[in-house]
Amino acid sequence: MIAIGSDHGGYRIKEAVKAYLQSRNIPVKDFGTHDEQSVNYAPIAGKVAQSVSSGESEKGIICCGTGIGVSMAANKVRGIRAAVCDNAFCVEMTRRHNNANVLCMGGRVIDEQQAQEFTGIFLDTPFDGDRHIQRIQEIQDIEDQTYELRKQEESKMDGQVFLMDHPLIQHKLTLLRDKNTGSKEFRELVGEIAMLMCYEATRDLTLKEVEIETPVAIAKTKVISGRKLAFIPILRAGIGMVDGVMELVPAAKVGHIGLYRNPETLQPVEYYSKLPTDIKERDVIVLDPMLATGGSAIDAITTIKKHAPKSVKFMCIIAAPEGMNALTQAHPDVQIYCAAMDDHLNEHGYIIPGLGDAGDRIFGTK
Ligand code: RB5
Repeated sequence: MIAIGSDHGGYRIKEAVKAYLQSRNIPVKDFGTHDEQSVNYAPIAGKVAQSVSSGESEKGIICCGTGIGVSMAANKVRGIRAAVCDNAFCVEMTRRHNNANVLCMGGRVIDEQQAQEFTGIFLDTPFDGDRHIQRIQEIQDIEDQTYELRKQEESKMDGQVFLMDHPLIQHKLTLLRDKNTGSKEFRELVGEIAMLMCYEATRDLTLKEVEIETPVAIAKTKVISGRKLAFIPILRAGIGMVDGVMELVPAAKVGHIGLYRNPETLQPVEYYSKLPTDIKERDVIVLDPMLATGGSAIDAITTIKKHAPKSVKFMCIIAAPEGMNALTQAHPDVQIYCAAMDDHLNEHGYIIPGLGDAGDRIFGTK
């Protein structure tokens, strides 16, 4: 199977490529776009490249206005060697020497006939092998080193980030993500997940031994010793997690914090803050269901730390890698509890796949 895709700029030649592949009875998976309406190229290029990288498709062909943007995006995917070509010689050579598995072409550079001709060359030219095997391996080595560095970055988070993959949490999270889940059920699920996460986030509470009388004997047993907790939801979505955690720790106090960023100074401005007066004696758990860019979590924790609590933890349901990196760098002393690390943030700052806007879904405002 051949995976194809384009943005609006490459749509015309992508359709020509599709017709050509169909005329040769080659199975095609078309990742869009399906008309000439303006659309961003990277997500489509990513899907074609993933299809090749996973082995679902043997090769990929992606088109945009120049072929350049889609090639940049495709080459970010592991195992992809995407080549931008606007002439037959380069198409042949990128197969023979680079063993290219994705061909990128520009709809504002070549016409439909050339796109079909280049597709034929791309599919029919074998890799020369021989000395080029080593050269391609060296490309692979660069990619492997990059992944290695990324893994090292991730392992730096070990001990600071606790991903909670308990089956109950994961099951409830799936229901939470579903766009058909209504506000009432969504609120209940947020509370239940928060409660389950709180169970883990309070694992290090210290215990002391006490003696009590059971109906039949004296027993030496344990109770939580003196540590006081405060939950601080970040307004407004964090409020959705409060009931769940208070079920587990009813004696905890609840503070509230609301911030916005001054667009000129970029400094966080507290528009609401009511923290427990004895916060200095308390261990704080900051609550926010979504860790997207990390901006508000970082600012809220910075503000809370100024009041000198004993310790600060952060609990979110879904995190984006961007937000997680930012938060761990800004506050390396803050342990983070999280039910899922999603793929990325989109251009509007939404976590993908995420669950949409948690605040709107909790409060039914959209
Ligand atoms: C879209 O106008 C254009 O930027 C895109 O098709 C592509 O040429 C990007 O590299």
